[in-house]
Amino acid sequence: MKLGVPRETFPGERRVAIVPGVIASFAKLGIEVVLESGAGTEAGFPDSAYVDQKATIGSRADAFAADIVAQVRTPGSNPIHGSSDTALMRQGQVVIGFADPLTAAEAVEAIAARGARLLSMELVPRITRAQSMDALSSMATVAGYKAVLLAAGTLPRMFPMLNTAAGTVTAARVFVIGAGVAGLQAIASAKRVGARVDAYDVRPAVKEQIQSVGARFVEMPLEAGEAQDAGGYAKAQDESFYQRQRELLHKTVAGSDVVITTAAIPGKRSPVLVTASMVEAMAPGSVIVDLAAERGGNCELTRADEVVIHRGVTILGPTNLPSTVPYHSSQMYSRNILTLVQHLVRREKGADGKATGAPTLVLNTDDEITKEILVTDGGHVVHPRVRQLQEAR
Ligand SMILES: NC(=O)c1ccc[n+]([C@@H]2O[C@H](COP(=O)([O-])OP(=O)(O)OC[C@H]3O[C@@H](n4cnc5c(N)ncnc54)[C@H](O)[C@@H]3O)[C@@H](O)[C@H]2O)c1
Repeated sequence: MKLGVPRETFPGERRVAIVPGVIASFAKLGIEVVLESGAGTEAGFPDSAYVDQKATIGSRADAFAADIVAQVRTPGSNPIHGSSDTALMRQGQVVIGFADPLTAAEAVEAIAARGARLLSMELVPRITRAQSMDALSSMATVAGYKAVLLAAGTLPRMFPMLNTAAGTVTAARVFVIGAGVAGLQAIASAKRVGARVDAYDVRPAVKEQIQSVGARFVEMPLEAGEAQDAGGYAKAQDESFYQRQRELLHKTVAGSDVVITTAAIPGKRSPVLVTASMVEAMAPGSVIVDLAAERGGNCELTRADEVVIHRGVTILGPTNLPSTVPYHSSQMYSRNILTLVQHLVRREKGADGKATGAPTLVLNTDDEITKEILVTDGGHVVHPRVRQLQEAR
């Protein structure tokens, strides 16, 4: 069985789906890796590092000829060049990667029409068993870390409190809104650089986690009703709730040097939590890093992938921070893919208990993980939520 790794073609995408370090584990499963030449270069992994691990180097067509194709961005999350990849896919082939299946309906339908079986990394369920396959979490970890470094590099102040012969420097005040995976990593990273950190989340269950990474939880007299769904994700609230939330957030935002927002609602537009008037209340030189920029942003003034300067406050809306730390992002992502493939592959065992014979990939939808991530199969879109969205179009 072969696993193909094409070079990523989305503009600015520097990650690679498979790093050399996991190739030996694929070999143990009976899977041989075929890499498009140069696919790992931008992430810091030259072809020679793959060859050392006994991978084959070939063309893009060679990578797409494999039984399994592993990508960071399958066509759904590669709107510019993805359709040329779809044309290379074939009947029964398994394609694994980010696919944006709840938004990119046409790309998903086109993959279904090619007969390929698409497994979407966004849909890995949040259950303990699937934690090591959860690429959204691993990429959010990188984004939370990098958001802090971006803020520190932009702020005209230092983060730590320093007592020096030239006087005392006060610590920067960082406010993190939304304390999921990215937010908690941002808190921990800002603490390490020496900032004083406040944080808030709509899910009250997060208070202890915020405190355990060293931040102060900002209490708000707000009743969110049901703040989270069964999957642990925040639920969308009504506009009057967000209105009240903005009033309560105003003072903390105004008093912060850095605001990092991560409040996302899966498949929905991000709620606006920081208005223009709140930005205007911040001191000149302050910085906002809006990690929800891809779906509209948590700050009213955010423009995706642009630097906005409003009355001296810099607002950054990066949409692909994991790609700016491509070495470790790729390493973590590869591990997520490997664990998923290990979960799907079956091999006959010999009398000594050792795996023998050719591996087969089993997509059994009685299994919760497979059922959740399988988007296309047998020429159709099979995922109920994705189908519903398509029918509603
Ligand atoms: N396998 C697992 O068990 C698993 C895997 C990943 C995450 N999780 C958990 O799922 C939860 C969500 O994590 P995530 O990082 O994916 O979240 P996310 O990216 O969906 O959202 C980021 C954060 O923003 C918060 N938020 C949303 N609207 C808000 C608002 N109006 N005001 C303030 N905050 C708001 C959310 O509550 C969340 O904490 C976390 O508790 C995480 O630990 C569990």
